[in-house]
Amino acid sequence: MVLTPERRTADPETKPETKPETKPETKPQTRPTIIPPEYLDGERVDYFTDRIGPYYSDQPDETGHYGPFGGAFVPETLIFAVHKLRDAYPKIVRDPVFQAELRSHLREFAGRPTPLYFAERLTAHHARADGSGPQIYLKREDLLHTGAHKINNAIGQVLLARRMGKKRIIAETGAGQHGVATATVCARFGLPCVVYMGAKDMERQKLNVFRMRLLGAEVRPVHSGTATLKDALSEAIRDWVTYPQKTHYVVGSVAGPHPYPAMVRDFQAVIGDEVHQQVQERLGPNRLPDILLACVGGGSNAMGLFRRFVDEPSVRMIGVEAAGAGVHTKKHAATLTKGTSGVLHGAMSYVLQDEWGQIREPHSISAGLDYPGVGPEHAYMRDTRRAEYWAVTDNQAVAAFLRVSKLEGIIPALETSHAFAALERLSAEVPEGQRPVVVVNCSGRGDKDVNTVLGVLKKRRSRLVEGLEL
Ligand SMILES: Cc1ncc(COP(=O)(O)O)c(C=O)c1O
Repeated sequence: MVLTPERRTADPETKPETKPETKPETKPQTRPTIIPPEYLDGERVDYFTDRIGPYYSDQPDETGHYGPFGGAFVPETLIFAVHKLRDAYPKIVRDPVFQAELRSHLREFAGRPTPLYFAERLTAHHARADGSGPQIYLKREDLLHTGAHKINNAIGQVLLARRMGKKRIIAETGAGQHGVATATVCARFGLPCVVYMGAKDMERQKLNVFRMRLLGAEVRPVHSGTATLKDALSEAIRDWVTYPQKTHYVVGSVAGPHPYPAMVRDFQAVIGDEVHQQVQERLGPNRLPDILLACVGGGSNAMGLFRRFVDEPSVRMIGVEAAGAGVHTKKHAATLTKGTSGVLHGAMSYVLQDEWGQIREPHSISAGLDYPGVGPEHAYMRDTRRAEYWAVTDNQAVAAFLRVSKLEGIIPALETSHAFAALERLSAEVPEGQRPVVVVNCSGRGDKDVNTVLGVLKKRRSRLVEGLEL
């Protein structure tokens, strides 16, 4: 991967000549400054020399950077295609005809808006004796067509590709949900679709492989590396390098080179937009949620939930990564907790790597979180402390999977179960007497994961699997 000329200079002295001096003075009048104090006198202040504070909703800058993260590190053969997408996306997405088409497909094909559901029994489970504790609401993305939030982005990008005259769609997938969503939208529009998937993920997500094939997509197994999501992504990039003219690559998360992180975030932002309206409808005008909770693989469902609230300092945002066997072991996928900065799949972000810069094998029980990188905007929000990132182990996620199924009648995806597991720690942290409104992004349903959970329970000789053939 080469460094493109787009790479933003780290030298703060190159900027002031071109910036109008009035800009910093006009912004604070209209919006609160939420830059954390340590950034005003710390060594990292150079990120923000051109602005008073990081207005998160303004991100990324014109070169696709979120502070030092992001950018477009792509091979020369792809630069043309990436730049074409970068230029076409803002024009097409602002077109009212495109917006009307997008809204109509989200409503009629995908099933939006999704409900904001009060999880009564889960709330009672996490309540203290005096009744205090989080009031838990679920944003039901699991009720969407194909069973996860991934369809929001797939519809947006396939409509965009059609507008750009692309004749072929490729995608990568980990848990298979993004692959299924892309294959579904391609079937709807009669476009050929190739999905790259790690051979290991194909094994643990057999049901989704079959679904993609039923939908007419070609699923290409990837055996290289760890045969998981990162290898599928690398293979999809290789395909795109080979056929950049007629192919659109539907990246499934807020990762990849600019403009993908911003584009995928914007197509997912409908989640937070609906939450914003639904919280007011339920709890009163101007009421905002207190805490947002979402799992983070590449980070698209979390960014979709957070986006509407990033400039609202009162809203606390928590992303939950996969701690696998524990962050103190080598078997985890907790990129923001344990990673270091580096370039992966076209963008600068946090990655799991060794001292030679070689990508380390991640581990998570959930294929969708089993990724050694993370979207660059999350890296930026972590460093500026706009969002917190926690990590939850496989065992904690399985416990939450079982708990939510039993208490709420909702079988969540194992990815989503990581966000639910974080409620244990969160409720212990809530000060006595308080009842904060917590919105958990229920990013997907767990049908695809029942075999994995059965396997775990069988090893534990759980009574739940008595009499079942595995
Ligand atoms: C249901 C579900 N939730 C979450 C994720 C993680 O992806 P992201 O972090 O991009 O939302 C996946 C990935 O496949 C998923 O299938």
